[in-house]
Amino acid sequence: MTSRRDFIKKSAFASAFVIGGLPKLGKSKALPYSNDIRKPIVISTWSHGIPANDAAWKILSSGGHALDAVEKGVMVVESDPRNTSVGLGGLPDRDGHVTLDASIMDEKGNAGSVAFLEHILHPISVARAVMEKTPHVMLVGEGAYQFALDNGFPKSNQEMTPEVKAAWEKWKADNHYNPHNHDTIGMVAMDSNGDISGSCTTSGWGFKMRGRVGDSPIIGAGMFADNDVGAACATGKGEAVIKIAGSHTIVELMRNGKTPQEACEEAVHRIAKKQSDYKTFQVGFLALNKNGDIGAYSIVKGFNYALAVNGENKLYDADYFVKE
Ligand code: GLY
Repeated sequence: MTSRRDFIKKSAFASAFVIGGLPKLGKSKALPYSNDIRKPIVISTWSHGIPANDAAWKILSSGGHALDAVEKGVMVVESDPRNTSVGLGGLPDRDGHVTLDASIMDEKGNAGSVAFLEHILHPISVARAVMEKTPHVMLVGEGAYQFALDNGFPKSNQEMTPEVKAAWEKWKADNHYNPHNHDTIGMVAMDSNGDISGSCTTSGWGFKMRGRVGDSPIIGAGMFADNDVGAACATGKGEAVIKIAGSHTIVELMRNGKTPQEACEEAVHRIAKKQSDYKTFQVGFLALNKNGDIGAYSIVKGFNYALAVNGENKLYDADYFVKE
């Protein structure tokens, strides 16, 4: 299946790749770095965030725009055919089709998204085109595909890798319909100007029902950015995130005075309060505010995220709710 390790090795920041050692963010507002340089800054979900941050950092460190950084950053992961959770290398739906969801927001509150999109290598860039070239926010399915072609995005003939095909065949033989772990990439960044943008892109729940759309393209669920306050993004079981409008909830909690960490924790607590099966799946949230404070929290153990700031790009384990 996905071998991210090889991919991550290619990152210019690979030597800085570490896990653990993260000071508790908690209510202390402590950051996992000790200096006062808090912008530019970029955080993204999971270990594939390392190469994604690497690309984003190139833009941010040369004075570039956060919007460009969050687009170009996640494109690196969309391009990786070995990544089974993002892009055309992703696990297919139960009928064997890889369908992609993505969203993007800029510092002006503009938003664009695509859902149930097939055969396009970079759904995040199509989402950006929806934002910049149409009066709409969201295009789906055949309409999104046609829009992509009309705007110069080529049809990809990328096929399932042998590993993904084997996983699909096995899944069909097992004949179950359980949530399959899916490691969406969500990214939020603040540029040198203090402007914040966010992005999110995924192939979604492996072996999902055809037509299923998760949280990633839903503005306010998988990602939300408000330049007055900050931004948040989500990974994990999208249905759980949509039910609490997760990323928007986190931004509103920050607007009302919570730290990014407190806001992420509150969002997870809401899932746990309302969704009795919460111990059976994973959701992870990341948040960033205008001060450059960050938050990261998940339901169960195992969520990690990449943080690039002050020229360092490192992987950290997030704190989590279910401790027993
Ligand atoms: N979080 C991605 C999805 O549920 O599709």
